Amino acid sequence: MWLYSREYFDYKAAMSEHSREDEATRYSRREFIKRVIASGAVASAATYIYGGLAGCVKQGTVAGGVERLVSITVNGDVRRVDVLPQETLAMTLRYKLGLTGTKLGCDRGECGACTVMLDDITHNSCSVLTHSVRGRKVVTVEGVGGPNGELHPVQQAFIDELSPQCGFCTPGQVISAVALLKRNPKPTRAEARAALAGNLCRCGAYDNYLNGVMRAAGVSST
Ligand code: FES
Ligand code: FES
Repeated sequence: MWLYSREYFDYKAAMSEHSREDEATRYSRREFIKRVIASGAVASAATYIYGGLAGCVKQGTVAGGVERLVSITVNGDVRRVDVLPQETLAMTLRYKLGLTGTKLGCDRGECGACTVMLDDITHNSCSVLTHSVRGRKVVTVEGVGGPNGELHPVQQAFIDELSPQCGFCTPGQVISAVALLKRNPKPTRAEARAALAGNLCRCGAYDNYLNGVMRAAGVSST
């Protein structure tokens, strides 16, 4: 997790800067760890101090801050999870909840690999803060099938049409297709193409995925 943290990038920048400096002033890993532990302790102390100001701030938060322990509904289950204020939903799903079907590609809202549904609407989970999804219904690729492991018709159609090649983009394509068929059960091929336009496929298997969507919808692939 720390590989994606601000502290990690600060550390990398500091290491590169200090590698040019005198040995005596070098930024050591031990010093870095000490700083991380120290800053965590400061945050804890602040929460303790300001958390006691009942009536001044919402219980469990500090001024200008957010609660870290939140409940989110993922695939029909309420999950209690400790999240950082700047944590994205993609990071929470993959690294806190173990839902690794959601992929991280660009991590900047460009590729669609991290697509999930929020209240049946597709979103790039790398660009959504976990704190913002409280009270909303999150569905990942692990949650689109039946209760006993049955595949969703879109998943089965992708298999039948041999849609994936490497498969990296497939979870995002599945979610976009499922969301489309929820709101438009009989889309035209053009409508399906538009719905999946945000899901990049480096293997170029776009037509194969569209064939799968049309098969799942039960309409001729024209
Ligand atoms: S990883 Fe989220 S859009 Fe690329
Ligand atoms: S199947 Fe490889 S990226 Fe789409």
